Order: sequence, then C-alpha cells, then structure tokens
Amino acid sequence: MKYNVVTAKEDRDLLSRADKRICAEWPEFMLHDPVADLLDLCYDELPDYQFVITANDHNEPLAIANSIPLLWHDPPECLPEEGWDWALTRGFEDFRGGRACNILCALQIVVFSENRGKALSGVAVDAMKAIGRTHDLEALIAPVRPSRKCDHPLISIDEYVTWTVDNGFPYDPWMRVHVRLGARIIKPCHKAMRITGTVAEWRNWTGMDFPETDSYIIPGALEPVEIDLDRDLGTYVEPNVWMCHPLQMR
Ligand SMILES: CC(C)(COP(=O)(O)OP(=O)(O)OC[C@H]1O[C@@H](n2cnc3c(N)ncnc32)[C@H](O)[C@@H]1OP(=O)(O)O)[C@@H](O)C(=O)NCCC(=O)NCCS
Repeated sequence: MKYNVVTAKEDRDLLSRADKRICAEWPEFMLHDPVADLLDLCYDELPDYQFVITANDHNEPLAIANSIPLLWHDPPECLPEEGWDWALTRGFEDFRGGRACNILCALQIVVFSENRGKALSGVAVDAMKAIGRTHDLEALIAPVRPSRKCDHPLISIDEYVTWTVDNGFPYDPWMRVHVRLGARIIKPCHKAMRITGTVAEWRNWTGMDFPETDSYIIPGALEPVEIDLDRDLGTYVEPNVWMCHPLQMR
C-alpha cells in the first residue's frame, strides 16, 4: 500500500482529528504526565514536525507522530535520564529561545489500533527521519517506550534492553523496528516520565484498589507504581531507552 505523510502545517484539521483519538490508545495514567500539556502546543508552534500517515486513496489518519527539534552537541551517551519529559521541555525552551537546533527528537508514534501489525510503525519512523533530513538535522533521537516491557514490569530496564531474539535483534518489537531502520541503542533513561496522583486518582486511572502502602503492578505500566497511603500519593517513574538514528545530510 502507498501512504501519504501529511504535516500539521499542511492540514491542521486532519491533525486535530487524529490527535483526539490518541487518548484511547494509551493507558489512562499515561495521559497525566504534566509535561505532556506542551505536546498540544506542538501542532501550532512546530507544525512541520507533527504528522499523520494516511493511505493514498483516502484521507483518514492511520497513525500520528510527534517530534521536536533540539539543540544538542554532546555525545548521545550524555543524554539525560529524564528522557521524554526533558526532550519536550528542552525542545520548547530551544524553540522559544530562537536557538538553531541540530537534532530531531521523536515524542510519540501511535498507530491506531485497527491498523496495527501492518508495519506502519516503520513507515512513520522513516517519515520522521525524512522530515529531519528536510530540515538539515543531524540525527533523530528517541526516548523509546519499549512496547513489551509492560509484560515484564519486574525486570529492570537495564536487563530488558539486553534481551535479544535469535537473529540478534532486540527482543522488544518497538526497539527492533528502530534498529532495523538504522538506529543504535544508546542507553536506558530511567526517569523518562514522572506521573504522580492522589490514591483516588490512581484508582480512577487504573480501576484498581490500593489497600496498603506498597508497589503495585498495573496494566500498561513498565514498572510498578509506588503507592503511599500516608502521603496520599502514587508515583510512577517510567524508564525508556534512548536510541539514535543518524541522518545523512542531503
Ligand atoms: C508500538 C506501535 C507503534 C507498533 O506499531 P505497528 O504498526 O502495529 O507495528 P508493526 O506492524 O510495524 O510491527 C512492529 C513489530 O512489532 C511486532 N508486533 C506488532 N504487534 C505486536 C503485538 N501485539 N505483540 C507483539 N509484537 C507485535 C511485529 O511483529 C513487528 O516485529 P518484527 O520485528 O518481528 O516484524 C503500536 O503498537 C502503537 O501505536 N502502540 C501504542 C503507542 C505506542 O506504544 N507507541 C510507541 C511509543 S511512542
């Protein structure tokens, strides 16, 4: 099948329609990272870097992707532990500071449920790389959220990233997509997202009860959530994995 890449600059309404569907694709708690509010601003302020994939014979979004340019001259090995939260915050600081950015950072790629398993994720990664090249950026970095880590919440991310399948590619399917398209694994970022809420909020977000102060495994989370009844606080710190795609200059 042939696909089109449509940016927010080209069709803002199409991107709005696609964005409205994102909530249904993530576990509820993932929608409560306070830094994520900045993501909404990307459509108007950085419209070249937000796009949808459509089939070329109709205009329905099959997947949506967000990215942000950054100024980063240190080696990728020095990228911070705060992964996604850092990238979004830093990208806006760079944008508002009028800085000349040199790399692109992936923020999310969501293939809508009914279109999964058709290799669309790679189409989206390739499209993001093409956008980076168009803007003469040197690399695409990504705080990758490993898609199967939620099945292994008690395994440390440091261990998980070393798991491979028979052909030597990563065990994790989403990391595998990136590696197949030329990325290398840099290192885990252990504090990529920090999501906190009251115990009642966590109950609402997960449909679970938290009768004691303890660590809880919740569906869709990559690590257990820490619940503290005395402080009426639930804290989830999500680990991701920094990966880097070099982008050849035209
Ligand atoms: C992760 C995601 C983008 C993958 O998109 P997709 O288009 O369905 O994936 P693809 O069809 O390209 O498949 C990629 C790999 O995942 C594997 N895969 C797909 N669905 C799978 C599933 N349910 N379970 C296990 N592996 C799966 C495929 O077999 C393929 O692996 P391969 O290397 O063996 O070929 C999609 O599942 C998604 O949008 N998830 C929710 C949002 C998210 O987690 N985004 C990524 C972080 S920002």
